[in-house]
Amino acid sequence: MKDLVWGHILSVGVDEIDDDHRKLVSLFNILNHSVMEGDAPDYLAAILDELINCTVWHFSHEERLMLKYGYKGIAEHKMEHQELIKSAKELQQKILQTDNLVMNEDIEFLEHWLMEHIFTTDLKMGTYLAMEM
Ligand SMILES: [Fe+2]
Ligand SMILES: [Fe+2]
Repeated sequence: MKDLVWGHILSVGVDEIDDDHRKLVSLFNILNHSVMEGDAPDYLAAILDELINCTVWHFSHEERLMLKYGYKGIAEHKMEHQELIKSAKELQQKILQTDNLVMNEDIEFLEHWLMEHIFTTDLKMGTYLAMEM
């Protein structure tokens, strides 16, 4: 699996949100490299933990901005965040139950999980916030 490369196509138009996304992309790449290099299971689990914690923090950041600037789509957006965290935790559980084996399909799932939300839901929010901030 190739690295995710940060580019303008990923920008949602708000610097502080883009900065968070950049960090998430770089954590994703660290995880991807570790899987390819066959790093120790406890190290893989630690990166996944970091990615999930960072995502939880990032979602609170977006939710605060949506609240501050009166974004109408906040409830739907928050629901999507909750679903994303739930599915990442389920994946983490699955990995723990299968002796920390991270499969290619898991990495593809995480890539989709990360990108799809940025390209659609975050971009919509970013377009609004960029005008209000
Ligand atoms: Fe985001
Ligand atoms: Fe979001």
